[in-house]
Amino acid sequence: MKTFNFPLALQRSRLLFRRASGTLALIILGTSASDALASCEYNINSDWGSGFVASVRVTNDTAGSVNSWQVQWQYSGDNRIVHHWSSDISGNNPYTASNAAWNGSLQPGQTAEFGFQGTASGPAEVPQVTGLLCDGGSSSGGSTSSSSSSSSSSSSSSSSSSSSSSSSSSSSSSSSGSSSSSGSSSGASAENLYSLAPFPIGVAVSAGYENRSFLSIAEKQTSIAQHFSQLTAGNIMKMSYLHPSENTYDFANADQMVNWAETNGIGIHGHTFIWHSDYQVPSWMQSYSGDFQAMLDDHVTTIADHFAGSVDSWDVVNEAIDENQSSCYRNSLFYQRAGAGYIANAFRAADAADPNADLYYNDYDTEGGNSNKLNCLLQIVDGLQADGVPIDGVGFQMHVQIDWPSTSQMRTAFQAIVDRGLKVKITELDVPVNNPYASTPFPQYTSYTTEVAALQKARYKSIVEAYLDVVPTNLRGGITVWGLWDGDSWLLDFSNRQGVDDWPLLFSGPANGPYEEKAAFDGVAEALLGQ
Ligand code: G3I
Repeated sequence: MKTFNFPLALQRSRLLFRRASGTLALIILGTSASDALASCEYNINSDWGSGFVASVRVTNDTAGSVNSWQVQWQYSGDNRIVHHWSSDISGNNPYTASNAAWNGSLQPGQTAEFGFQGTASGPAEVPQVTGLLCDGGSSSGGSTSSSSSSSSSSSSSSSSSSSSSSSSSSSSSSSSGSSSSSGSSSGASAENLYSLAPFPIGVAVSAGYENRSFLSIAEKQTSIAQHFSQLTAGNIMKMSYLHPSENTYDFANADQMVNWAETNGIGIHGHTFIWHSDYQVPSWMQSYSGDFQAMLDDHVTTIADHFAGSVDSWDVVNEAIDENQSSCYRNSLFYQRAGAGYIANAFRAADAADPNADLYYNDYDTEGGNSNKLNCLLQIVDGLQADGVPIDGVGFQMHVQIDWPSTSQMRTAFQAIVDRGLKVKITELDVPVNNPYASTPFPQYTSYTTEVAALQKARYKSIVEAYLDVVPTNLRGGITVWGLWDGDSWLLDFSNRQGVDDWPLLFSGPANGPYEEKAAFDGVAEALLGQ
């Protein structure tokens, strides 16, 4: 077992330091606020008579950087804000919005966008937005200003889609190189999601010869390098990919992914040595007639040994529980051929081959809503610990619904693992907005409106808050989202969703708009910042 859970942490913190230092230099050299010529644009995103969702875009149109911003506005009618995101809003008409911790630094051409939901009795109003940064306002403190937009997105919104909201697209354009492998420093470190957490912030990726491999899509690489500190292979480190025949291991695709990650100062969470699921078990293994346990030990040892030093942690065994069996064990090929002991053996083999990697048991539906499954998890974990098996933690996949399970159930599940002195890692987080199991007709949402975005943001935020509240710092294995762009999510193909569209991740794209951070991203960032 390892005592230092993030082998690339030193390398990563050097990278962070470089980025932070560079940001400071830019701020010092940047224009002062009174020199700034920026625009402030108020847009109504949605208006349903009794309420509205609106957003304000603050764009730095100067040649220098700014370090913070603040804007004000006042409604002449009864519009009032009830909920907001991506800025700190104070007051009660007039309102003052100050940058959030991560979107205060604006490089030339960069835009920050924040949003809010309000109540109204009639059509939503478009007030004038004022502030030092609005249209070259003087330094007289916010009374100058100007360019409130109409509710239409007008000309500025077409430019907006290229310069885009907040940090993502500006980095993918003006600062993309600097935020990735070159390690130079145009982006503020607070614009890097991973920099908000002293534990891995991960994302699952397609790689190798998979469709839409991140290695063949530059925009994906840019976002990953900018925001994530750990990668999980969505597929290519599973059994059938790495061990296609008894005497053949194929590491080429995984090595390519690992090398890219290392070059960019990003860690790897290995997924997974043993998983029962369909074609992920190679056919030769399904018909193996020799000593099955010895073969499985060799499988784990060879793979763990190959990646030792490159991998932070492993899902050693994935989805071994069936809560409908009195034994709690899934009646998988492994259970049938080697008995329940295959789990302990896998941990021991992995630990012997790579004592520095954190070793996790990983499963779905253990987040608390299914108490039988959670009980099975605890029973199995207790047995492993009683037998001195080198398990470091439990991976909660967290393929949750937007309304199930409750965050208090999640807290209970996390706490049970914390109570056992084990790490908690959220390994496969996604939050679809449509729930096929809900009592309301499915799909509940056929388009991704700003109201849906706000709901999803709140859900992501409360999940991360639950994690931070319950799991002490030394037991935080990290948080990984299961995919980068909405359009690439496995959920879109999942049979129980009947091909219904959804938007479960932190970034839009590729089919549903530009590759931008969504409100859900802001929810995660806000939770990490304790806002
Ligand atoms: O690469 C082939 C492609 O050549 C072919 O045209 C296409 C046709 O179906 O299939 C492609 O392979 C697909 C593969 O993903 C590559 O993207 C497989 O059919 C498909 O079954 C596979 O699904 C993956 C699934 O695990 C099964 O391995 C999902 O992407 C992946 O997100 C999902 O991940 C699992 C975790 O490992 C464990 N927890 C649950 C999670 C979601 O199911």
